[in-house]
Amino acid sequence: MKKKIVALFGSNVFGGNTDKLLNEAIRGAEEAGCSVERVDVVQANISGCRQIYHCMEKETCVIRDEAEKYFTLLKEADGIIIATPVMTYGIPGHLKSFMDRCQPFYMAKYHRKNSFITPEHAKIRKTLFICISGMNTPDVFIGPVLTAKAFCQIIDAGYVDELLQNDMDTIKDIATKPEVLKAAYEKGRTLGEAVTKAR
Ligand SMILES: Cc1cc2nc3c(=O)[nH]c(=O)nc-3n(C[C@H](O)[C@H](O)[C@H](O)COP(=O)(O)O)c2cc1C
Repeated sequence: MKKKIVALFGSNVFGGNTDKLLNEAIRGAEEAGCSVERVDVVQANISGCRQIYHCMEKETCVIRDEAEKYFTLLKEADGIIIATPVMTYGIPGHLKSFMDRCQPFYMAKYHRKNSFITPEHAKIRKTLFICISGMNTPDVFIGPVLTAKAFCQIIDAGYVDELLQNDMDTIKDIATKPEVLKAAYEKGRTLGEAVTKAR
């Protein structure tokens, strides 16, 4: 059976630069033999966490929306690709809300000490983080990377690789940087090969 990768798309811009990089990473993962399910988070009907803490004791979220089906996808995934632009030195609100809604994973793992992910599966689950920014300040990826790493710990999918491309306000179109598109393809392929080999 093919290994499963979930690709989370955090931009609003379909056909934009984040999209192009994600498509290359997906192509690489598919060529490595994985099946990839892409989630366009901005189009998902998911509201923000209400901090009711229902998930402290229950495996589910009290909010019955599309998040439930994405929880299942995330639980079954062998690999994750997250592709997002920087917004206000962090990640876009809808992607952040999606990550916040994964609090049932946090509570299972850290509060009830019974992660949704088995130790054997956790060992092979890996994440590739792709992030682009308009500016080229040295600290522009600090916030997004911290958030992505925290998310990876919560869902038990090790943060193993990243592609961080700054200065998009100058570059404008990532197609003028074939080496970056190639890097996205290769990182997707490496992730796909790593999870395919893992078990
Ligand atoms: C609301 C908003 C906030 C942004 N905040 C930042 C920021 O804090 N730092 C930065 O470098 N770029 C910022 N950007 C620029 C985007 O990261 C940049 O334009 C990126 O290339 C967008 O990629 P996309 O078109 O694929 O979504 C922001 C863009 C928007 C729309």
